[in-house]
Amino acid sequence: MTDTITINGTERPIPEDPRVTLLDFLREHVGLTGTKKGCDHGQCGACTVIVNGRRINSCLSLAAVHDGDDVTTIEGLGTPDAPSAMQLAFVEHDGYQCGYCTPGQICSATAMMDEIAAGFPSDASPDLQGDMFATPDEIRERMSGNVCRCGAYANIVAAIRNVAEEGAR
Ligand code: FES
Ligand code: FES
Repeated sequence: MTDTITINGTERPIPEDPRVTLLDFLREHVGLTGTKKGCDHGQCGACTVIVNGRRINSCLSLAAVHDGDDVTTIEGLGTPDAPSAMQLAFVEHDGYQCGYCTPGQICSATAMMDEIAAGFPSDASPDLQGDMFATPDEIRERMSGNVCRCGAYANIVAAIRNVAEEGAR
């Protein structure tokens, strides 16, 4: 039986070559080029996708280890006609300049909201237990793995704060 990964709701066979990263699989094999290759070394976050609800750097993960996993990329979060709340907030708050980091930022921010809702603490959390909130400090700390070379950080934080306040994502 062929091993498969579900990507944005569609099942795909895992490549036979065990050296293919999830990032290259998404971009080169499946043709989903929304996920970007920045550093290819786990440093920039441009390749962030959501696997089984958790954000990961797809450049650091081999496609072969994702048998049976559920992957969501930026294309799976929404479309230009029907954007997700986070996608819309990035547009409304001008949360990008060149846009290269933006798909990873949005995937990361989307999964981050679930981490906060689940009560996962961060280094910026005043307490390790209890309710967590998307304060500017929390957002900056939790999004620190996503680098924006253009420096659109202030607007990215504003976009995420807006989604947090509206309770959507
Ligand atoms: Fe994966 Fe930079 S391309 S972290
Ligand atoms: Fe250009 Fe982030 S918008 S790197």
